[in-house]
This record gives sequence, structure tokens and C-alpha cells, in this order.
Amino acid sequence: MERLDLDMVILNASELLTLKGASHTPKLREDLNELGIIENGGVAIRGNQILAVDTTKNIKRLVKPGSRPRIIDAKNQTVMPGLIDPHTHLAFAGSREREFVQKIKGATYMEILESGGGINVTVKATRKASKNTLVRLGKPTLNRMLEYGTTTVEGKSGYGLEPKHEYKQLFAMRDLNLIHPIDIVPTFMGAHVIPTKYKEQPEKYMDLIIDKMIPSVSKRGLAEFCDVFAEEGIFDIDQSRRILLAGKKHGLTPKVHADEMTTFGGAELAAEVGAASADHLLKVSKQGIRALAKKQVVAVLLPATALVLMEKEYAPARDLIKSGVPVALATDYNPNCMTESMQLVMTLACLNMRMTPAEAISASTINAAHAIARAHLVGSLEPNKQADIVIMNVPNHSHIPYHFGVNHVNKVIKAGKLAYSAQ
Ligand code: NIG
Ligand code: FE
Repeated sequence: MERLDLDMVILNASELLTLKGASHTPKLREDLNELGIIENGGVAIRGNQILAVDTTKNIKRLVKPGSRPRIIDAKNQTVMPGLIDPHTHLAFAGSREREFVQKIKGATYMEILESGGGINVTVKATRKASKNTLVRLGKPTLNRMLEYGTTTVEGKSGYGLEPKHEYKQLFAMRDLNLIHPIDIVPTFMGAHVIPTKYKEQPEKYMDLIIDKMIPSVSKRGLAEFCDVFAEEGIFDIDQSRRILLAGKKHGLTPKVHADEMTTFGGAELAAEVGAASADHLLKVSKQGIRALAKKQVVAVLLPATALVLMEKEYAPARDLIKSGVPVALATDYNPNCMTESMQLVMTLACLNMRMTPAEAISASTINAAHAIARAHLVGSLEPNKQADIVIMNVPNHSHIPYHFGVNHVNKVIKAGKLAYSAQ
């Protein structure tokens, strides 16, 4: 047996969740329950990479005599891939706790938005903020995400809605990516709403997105994905299609905020344009589900958003899973949905969408990586993958969603380095 020079070894995990075998295609149906568990497991790390994942006994045998890897004892703890949050609206200014109260008193999200609140309020605050302010405000958010076990996050623009302010948000995410351990995957979402200035001439704003912002974002390498809020009264299906195809022409992979408030054909559109994901899907139709399954578009479900919208019906996770749609989970962190915690999202997925703890974990790791084209790099613990690892202070994986409202994270290892420790 080859002995290895190692930088770090994790030993004695009561459960080690590998999530192995789904780096090429996402987990579907029953396979979502297969976490590839190794009891009394360990991980061998060199540099930023995983070299081996095995039982503690075998990992110990791998260590070259005389080499002194850092040893992390995970006794009575669960070791798993870093959580991946594939849908957030990261770099914004201001807050909307006033609307939180309005909603409690009965106002709907759409009523608040149509009366000039909602996204518009955040757009005003974000336009006023400098790029450096957005970076300063983004840091504590990312710190909280890391503390709660997230190691890769997608972030959308969409609170600028003017070329220079959209670019500013994307530049802020680029800076944050450089200074923070969490990896940020950027998405251009100039098509979040029609800004007030263009209310009477939405076509002018469409032109601005298609002819100016998309080419410029692509040329400067500011985003990988292009997202649109396809919804009644926001962007219709035809407008959404034109934006997504323009993005695709410039190398930005489509994503869709689909069928969130109404059954609108967003899922069908996502399948038609070859989107990486269709997100929300509270009101997705049967045809929409079939279309997603046929094209293997990842359904990114956002149960924390359903919670803050006080919706009775959450996205139909069971139907999606049964139909063979790859399912992922995300926070949708934004001023309307203020949580950084993928652990909370997993609990909501279990209790309100009847996903099993194992399904919720697959959806928050390897399938979430597929939603943002990172499954070759992260989302599972396998040799040659980046060493993004979370150690949870729970004896088995079911405790993660079962014991909720607390943070189970003991340590986070990002690209082979200890990035957070609870002690
Ligand atoms: O994903 N639905 C549209 N966009 C966000 C909300 C953004 C906001 O309210 O600021 C979402 O829920
Ligand atoms: Fe969103």
C-alpha cells in the first residue's frame, strides 16, 4: 500500500457521508436516499484536495511514517461535504423588516411590490451604496453562511437594474470571492423587475438588458449564469425567453425564477432553453414537471421563501422526485427571506415538503453543486475533489434537520484549510 504525505486527516467520524457516485449526473429518485455512509470514517487531505475517504483504520494506515498531518478528531460527529447554496441574492444594501410586519398584518408580497415596496426598496438602497459598501455588508453574511456550513454559494445581481449598478453588484461579488473562503458563483439578474423609470416602456428596459448589459457582463467575465423572474406582472414568458436566449448566446447559462406565485410556464421555458435550474416551482404544472424531468433541469426548491410568503402549499417535492426531476435546495437569501442557514432549509424541506433527511442532504450537497455546474469540483467527499468539508456535532445525519433552530457546525474545512471552528 502506498503511504502518503498528508496535510490533514479527519478521523473517527460516527457517520461519514460521502455522497459519492453522482458527480456526472445528479441523484434521482431513490438514489437521493443513498448518502454513501462510512461508519467510523476518515478523510485524508493534501493541499486543497481529498486524497482518500475510508474507514478510520484505513486512513490511519495511509499516513507515511514520519509525516505529521494535522489530526482532526470527529468522534461522535457527522462529517459531510460542505453545504452548497445554489440560489441567493447576495450583495445588496438596506433591509425590509417593515415589510415583514406588513406581511404579518395581511399584505401579500405582490401587493407590497406593486405599491412600490419590495425589490424597489432594495434597488434604491443598493444604488446608493458604493461597491465597497456592498463588500463590507456582504462579509458578515458570508461569515454566517460559513459558520452554518456553507462552502459554495451562488449570488445574483438584480438590485441595480441599471448597467453601472448591476456591474457594481457583480464586481462586489467578485471582490468578496477573492477575500472570503466561501466560493461565490455569480449570476446576472438584470431581469429581476422592470425598474420604475421604464414602467411605461418595458421594451426599452428589455433592449438595455439584451443589447447592453448581457454583452458587457459576458465580455468582462462577471457572471456564469443569467436568471429571470418569469412571473405574471414581472417578465412574461416571451420576454423571459428573449433574455435567456440572449444570455445563452453570450455564454451565460440560463436559470429561471419559475412558477413561484402563479402557474406561468416557467418550468417549461427552463426546459426549452436548456436551463441549469428552474427555481421556486411552488405552482409548477404537471407538464412543467414532465418537461424538467425530460431535460434533467435541476429543480432548486426554496422552502424558506414559501415560509416567509406564508404559503400553505410548498413546492411539490414528492411529485418532482417521483417524476425523476433532480431536486436541490437553497436559502434564497434576500431581504425578503433573511436566512443564511441551509440547516433550517433542510428542516423546512423535511417538514413541509416531506423530504427525508437523506434526500434533503443530497439536495444540499451534490445536487446543489449540479445546479451551479460545480459537481466536478465539490458536493461529495471523493478522491480528487476539493476538500470542502463540514463536521457537524451530531451522531448521525438525521439529527441535522431533526434538531432545528440551532447550529450543529463544529468545524468547516474549505479547500483543505480550517476556515471555521466553533471552539
Ligand atoms: O427569489 N422572486 C423574486 N426574487 C426574490 C425576491 C427578491 C426580493 O424580494 O428582494 C426571490 O424570492
Ligand atoms: Fe430568488
